[in-house]
Amino acid sequence: MSKRGGAETPPGPDGLPLVGSLPEYARDPFGFERRVHREYGDVVRWKVPGGWMYHLADPEHIEHVLVRNNQNYVKGEVFQETLGPVLGNGVLNAEGEFWRRQRHLVEPAFHPDRISTYAEMMVDVTERQTGRWRAGEIRDIHSDMTALTLEIIGRAMFGLDLSDESEEVGEALETVMKASEFSYSDLVPEQIPTPERRRFENAVEDLNRVVARIIKERKRNPTDEDVVSMLLAARDDEGEGMSLRQVRDEVMTLLLAGHETTALALTFTFFLLAQHGDVERKIVRELDEELGGETPTFRDLPNLTYLEQVVKESMRLYPPVPSIVREPVEDDRVGDYRLPAGETVSMSQHVVHRDPRWYDDPMAFRPERWTGDFEQSLPRLAYFPFAAGPRRCIGDRFAMLEARLVLATILQRFHLEQVSGPSMDLRMSITARPKKPVEMKIHEREEWREKQERTEKAVESPAE
Ligand code: HEM
Repeated sequence: MSKRGGAETPPGPDGLPLVGSLPEYARDPFGFERRVHREYGDVVRWKVPGGWMYHLADPEHIEHVLVRNNQNYVKGEVFQETLGPVLGNGVLNAEGEFWRRQRHLVEPAFHPDRISTYAEMMVDVTERQTGRWRAGEIRDIHSDMTALTLEIIGRAMFGLDLSDESEEVGEALETVMKASEFSYSDLVPEQIPTPERRRFENAVEDLNRVVARIIKERKRNPTDEDVVSMLLAARDDEGEGMSLRQVRDEVMTLLLAGHETTALALTFTFFLLAQHGDVERKIVRELDEELGGETPTFRDLPNLTYLEQVVKESMRLYPPVPSIVREPVEDDRVGDYRLPAGETVSMSQHVVHRDPRWYDDPMAFRPERWTGDFEQSLPRLAYFPFAAGPRRCIGDRFAMLEARLVLATILQRFHLEQVSGPSMDLRMSITARPKKPVEMKIHEREEWREKQERTEKAVESPAE
């Protein structure tokens, strides 16, 4: 630890010359982050090619970066390099005044009153897509949830049915996300067209085609409701409209940010439920009591309290966005440590959400822990699946509405049995994605319930 300007350099692993800790990180990013936190503490510095990564795990420090001193931070190089070629200067990537204006422009689409109007459509789409499921078949639930959330975001934001594009978008997204992982090919000079880079460019082309179709369709047939028409009609103080390039960037941002993460949250929840029959039975009981077999609606949600606890607990153990990165514009400090301008600061939900200082028995999937008192007692940034501060997720309410309605609709009718093994290997990109298909066997709820009752009876009276 060295001292400069009254603040110290944080401790951390030495790593190798040139590549630093990249090899170890690339082998197992989640394990690496957990290990350095355990061994070096709440502020750790480790070397990456061309710079340093500063890893923060104290909620107080994270609040400092994301909320209290947010004006000193930009999303920085990691964001620009990985997401820039896909999202351009959309609201997720933009900075400063330009970001503020764009955020303000898309905000009306996320007003609570407007969001509640999407509920019925969310349930309809879920019923229709899962109406094709057959008892006994084995399905890749991650791919199903991606198709489902893509159709929902297409209808909610753009007033369009994108179900025909779902395979193309799903595959392109997989390639784009793979390219955003840290890998050795990052060390190859940018001008060299590696096969990976060519695949990436083709994927961006595919996504561009889908976005171009959305914009073309809405230009031809504008509505009062959809975001594209809203963006095309927007004027700044000088009466200037938005460039077509900017409209493209915003549509791409909402299309991708608006479905991939929710698909992951749903996939992880089904994965957890498949291993915790007690939790699943408790949700089903709640659904029976509150809905009595009827289709869930927006008005039912305040009564589905256990379901909400389940979603929160699932995003604690498996946050779809596993870490957030920022770059200090000017030197900053957290506690005793200096965060130098221009370096990368990373804050990992994955690590903080599993910290035993905040979560008793942190690896246990225990939705019951999410009581009002417990939430009150948590440090503010000990739970941040949607980030915090001015750049908090704009779609948090939309996502929570969608996740609960989709789960309520599916769980009323189906039980999903895990067939691809009890572990979930994740790939760390901008989001945490399952490495392999998440295969599950579909059971009709009634048949599953009868089987459960028979098993329970047999356990209670084994002699019979
Ligand atoms: C479970 C689902 C979701 C999770 C976990 C999630 C998580 C996040 C996180 C952590 C950020 C902050 C990223 C950063 O600052 O580095 C973010 C930003 C954002 N999210 Fe989400 N998100 C979800 C769903 C959605 C949905 C449904 C939409 C749109 C319909 C959306 C649109 C956005 C946008 C536009 C931003 C950028 C906001 C800004 O910088 O002003 N997200 N999200």
